[in-house]
Formats: sequence, structure tokens, C-alpha cells
Amino acid sequence: MDLDKLQNQLSTLRAETTTAIAGVVTMDELRRLESQTTGKTGALGAWMATIKEFPPEQRGQVGKTLNQAKGELTKLFKDAGEKIKAGAAAAEASKASSYDPTLPGIRPPVGSFHPVTLVQLQVEAVFQRLGFLIETGPEMESEHYNFEALNIPKLHPARDMQDTFWLTNGKLLRTHTSPVQVRAMERHGTPLRVIAPGRCFRYETIDASHENTFHQVEGLMIDRNISIANLIAMMKLLLREVFSQELSIRLRPGYFPFVEPGFEMDMSCLICGGGGCATCKQSGWIEILPCGMVHPNVLRAGNIDPHEFTGFAFGLGLTRLAMMKYGVADIRGLNSGDLRALVPAGRISGTTVAEKPPC
Ligand code: DAH
Repeated sequence: MDLDKLQNQLSTLRAETTTAIAGVVTMDELRRLESQTTGKTGALGAWMATIKEFPPEQRGQVGKTLNQAKGELTKLFKDAGEKIKAGAAAAEASKASSYDPTLPGIRPPVGSFHPVTLVQLQVEAVFQRLGFLIETGPEMESEHYNFEALNIPKLHPARDMQDTFWLTNGKLLRTHTSPVQVRAMERHGTPLRVIAPGRCFRYETIDASHENTFHQVEGLMIDRNISIANLIAMMKLLLREVFSQELSIRLRPGYFPFVEPGFEMDMSCLICGGGGCATCKQSGWIEILPCGMVHPNVLRAGNIDPHEFTGFAFGLGLTRLAMMKYGVADIRGLNSGDLRALVPAGRISGTTVAEKPPC
């Protein structure tokens, strides 16, 4: 072994140590590396052990060289250690400064919404954007508005389609929200855009899909030149907004005395995607929106000239819609008062079909 070779190897060790230190992140790693380099059993320690292999006259010089190398390496580790500690302190400081104890806390959302309330709010928001008024007629209604003004005179067979709760005062519990149509025509005249959400009642035997108390939203738009195309566009928009997706729809003829022509609007079944399942009775379609062009007799009942104005109307089953949207299989869960039917307030924004209340 000679001195030149030792010096060469020490400068290689120095270079390698500098590179290794640059890659170290934590103090633990640094200490480990330091002991492997300058520790007794490390690379430098091994060199120290070779002093006695040098000729006696060179040993002094070798010792000096090795000590100098050790000093340099120790300084490298000391500097690196200070850098790591400073970095950790800075990170702590910035964490501490981003916490402002004077800021008010974030109030967790509390309370819950009934699925029917939720879809009603959504439907109202869609139509309000389109300039529709929101009306609410009385739940205790007269025979005139519930039937006669809607082109359903006494003894008309269509009265049998809506089993009615008659009251002892000669009035009735409205069987649908359609009576608000003529009330709104009388109140606001033309042109008219109005929706009327509300509770309806029918003398029904209750089962999984029938209730004696349910919710509808009536819609009515009257102006010059209103056509079926306007009706379809509006209904498509409504379903797209409520279900947050583009749905296929289809129109079938449907009979309602207060519209001519009248339609049943179906939408593609959300449960099976149109392939057929128990919910859609294997048809791939769900009956969702009865609608049509307002019958001239109804316009006349509301003091509107059917030669000058036309309009469309629809009667959306809100309860049905809520069941579809939130996957509620049994209608009885909705009026039972069971709190599990409610949708927690925190889940309101972005509610989707997948989010099912547990009822
Ligand atoms: N009122 C009807 C019912 O409850 C639903 C309805 C059908 C409303 C057609 C409409 C309509 O406005 O155009 O059965």
C-alpha cells in the first residue's frame, strides 16, 4: 500500500459520500450513512486499521491524511444534518401558520328532506328558470274546479277514474292538481306559464304502489302558437334536469277529458336501462308524464279564447318520480313517518339514482 493510492481512494470516498448525502431525506438515514462511512466499522475505519501496514516512516503522514479525510467527511455530515433539520422546522412552521384558530368552524349539515320534497324543489327550480309561476290551489276543492271546469261534467265516466273523497260540506279533497289550471287562468290570464305542486287524495286501497295521499305537479303553458313540439321539448328538459342524464322518451295516445290530443309520456326505465325488469313490467318503459294540448272547453272555462290561444298541460306524479329517482320500491314507506325514508341534508347536492334512502 502506498500513500498515493490511499489519497486516490480517499478522494473517491469523499465524492461518493457527497453524492450519497444528496439523496438522503431523514436524519435517521443520514446517521446510518455516517456510521457506514466514518464509523469504526465503516470505510474510513477500515483504512485506519491499515496504518500499521505502512513503513514506519510513512505512518505519521498516513495518520494525518486519514484524520484530515475524517474531518472533511464529518463536516459534510454535520452540514447535511443541519440542512435536514432546518427543512423539517420550516415545514412545521408553514403548517402552523396555515391554521387560523379564529376562523369559524364548518357547520355539519343537519336535518333531512323527504324524497318527495327533494324532487319537488328540483322541479320547481327547473321551471322557475324558464319563467313559470308557482301556484298552490286548495286541497279542499270544489266540484267545479276539480271536475266541471276540466271538461268532466256530472255523470261523465271519467269521474270514475278518480275515486273521490267527498266532504259533508259538498266539497271534495282534490283528486289531482289539475284544478289549479283554471284557477291560474282566471287569476293571471294570458300568456301563462305556471306549475302547481301539491298533495292530492284518492279513495284507494293502499298497497305497494297505491296511496290515498300522493303528490303531483301540474304544469300549464298558454300562449299564441303553442304546439306539441313545445310540450315535448319542455318535458324532455324536465326529465333531463331531474335525472341528470339524457333519457329516451316516447309518446302514446292517452285519454284525459281536459286535453286534446292527450298523451302518456314514457321514459326509458332507469332500473334496467330499457332492457326490461320487474319495475317496468319487462317493457323497458316507465309511464311518467300524462300530458296533452289543453282542451278548448278548459280554456273557455278559464275565460281564454281557444281561437287565439293554445296551450299544453301535464300532470307529473311527484311521488312516482321520487320513487324512481331514489329507488323506493314501496310507496307506503313515504307516508309512514319512518325517518329512514328521509334523505340527509348533506346528500342533497348531486343526489343521483344510485343514492337510495333505505326504505
Ligand atoms: N290530472 C291527471 C290525473 O291525475 C293527470 C294529467 C293528465 C294532468 C294529463 C294533465 C294532463 O295536465 O294534461 O290523472
